[in-house]
This record gives sequence, C-alpha cells and structure tokens, in this order.
Amino acid sequence: MNRAKHIAIIMDGNGRWAELQGEKRVKGHEAGAKVVKEITVYCANNEEIERLTLYAFSTENWKRPRIEVEFLMKLLENYLKNELEVYLANNVRFEPIGDICVFSNSLQKMIATVQEKTAHCNGLVQSLALNYGSQDEIVRAVEKLRSAEENITIQSLSYALDCKHNVDLLIRTGGDKRLSNFLLWQTAYAELFFVDTLWPDFKIKELEKIIKKFKKVERRFGGLK
Ligand code: IPE
Ligand code: IPE
Ligand code: MG
Repeated sequence: MNRAKHIAIIMDGNGRWAELQGEKRVKGHEAGAKVVKEITVYCANNEEIERLTLYAFSTENWKRPRIEVEFLMKLLENYLKNELEVYLANNVRFEPIGDICVFSNSLQKMIATVQEKTAHCNGLVQSLALNYGSQDEIVRAVEKLRSAEENITIQSLSYALDCKHNVDLLIRTGGDKRLSNFLLWQTAYAELFFVDTLWPDFKIKELEKIIKKFKKVERRFGGLK
C-alpha cells in the first residue's frame, strides 16, 4: 500500500464559500485559516505523513484587489503569531517556500521567528507556499546553479528548489482541475485528487477518505507492476 508521506494541497474556494453566505470574500479566508490549523494538527498526529505543503498565496495572487491582498497579508501574520503555540505543541516544523523577500518587514520577521522557533521540531514539516509560483521557483533554482557554476542535473535542480521533496498526494479543493503554478516539478508522479468541496468546508473525514483511496492506487512510475 502507498504511503502518503508528502501531501500537498491547493486550498481553493474561500471566496466562493463566503459569497454563498452573502459575506465578503475575506470572511472565507478567515474560515479557511481555521481549516489550515485542523488539517495541520491531524497530519502532525498521523505517523505516515511527514510533510504537508499548503498553497497559501501564489505569485499571481497579487493581481487581486489591493484590499484583499492586504487582508491576506495581515491574516497570514496573525495566523503565524497565534499558531506558533500549536506548531510547538504538535512538534511541527514550519518551513516556508516561495519568494518571501517582497513581503513587509514585519511579515518577514514573523515568518523567520516561527521558522527559528520550530527548527528543533522533528515531527511533521508544514510548508506554507507564500508568494510561491512553480515557474518562479524553477527560474530561481536555475539561476542559483548557474551562478555557482554547478551542472544542471535532475538531482542538482531538485536540490536547488525551495521544495526539495516529491509530492505523493496532491489535493485541490474548490472544483477546478488545474495546478495553478503549484509544485509543477515535484508533482511529476503525484496522485492528483480534485474535490468540489470549498476549502472552508474541507474536513478531516474527507482527507481520510482521499488518503484511503490513494493507498490503493497502483503507482508505477513508468515501470510495470
Ligand atoms: C483560495 O481561495 C485562497 C487564495 C487564493 C488566497 P480563493 O480566494 O481563490 O477562493 P475562490 O476560488 O475565489 O472561491
Ligand atoms: C490557487 O488558487 C492559489 C492558492 C490556492 C493560493 P487561485 O484561485 O489563485 O487559482 P486560479 O486563479 O483559480 O487558477
Ligand atoms: Mg480560487
């Protein structure tokens, strides 16, 4: 049976969730942040899961109205501030991926603080993808190798990426069947699950159901079974 060592999630559908209840889109982001916590704690307490990588803000999300972007930045900062305790209590190491140097100083500081304070945790690694785009990540990795005059191989490029680990199971909520520039390299042989549930409605039970299905898939990696 397959092991879901690395789960990646495109947490989509926050805005639609809020609009369905006659609320502003940002309410959906608030509700979504609560689900991030629940799912992280669940994964931290499931021995088979080693990594959880969550798409929180893409390199393309800057195209949204300024007010929504500002809200997301504030929400992220508050989330990290409040969740530090949860990370520590559940032995979760926080590792951001993405180009975070464009964020405000205070947000960058908060990201660094949570990273440092959880560096000793040896349970689940939770990665939040922040100002993350797979294409940008690959370009930055190639640039790093080129300036170090290193050969470009599958291994060296993998290692130069922000996320150095192949994904086993990728889930996208919100009903769309696309990757939206998320972990294009690392999902080369991932199993993809697209569900209609909007992210704020996503529950542990649904994740368990997906993992159960994933376990039974025959993964061949190009070979024969
Ligand atoms: C995903 O939910 C969260 C982010 C992109 C930050 P959306 O905000 O994309 O919600 P929908 O897809 O518009 O419903
Ligand atoms: C993907 O969702 C990004 C995150 C979940 C952070 P989007 O809502 O930005 O993706 P598109 O625009 O529908 O492809
Ligand atoms: Mg969306």
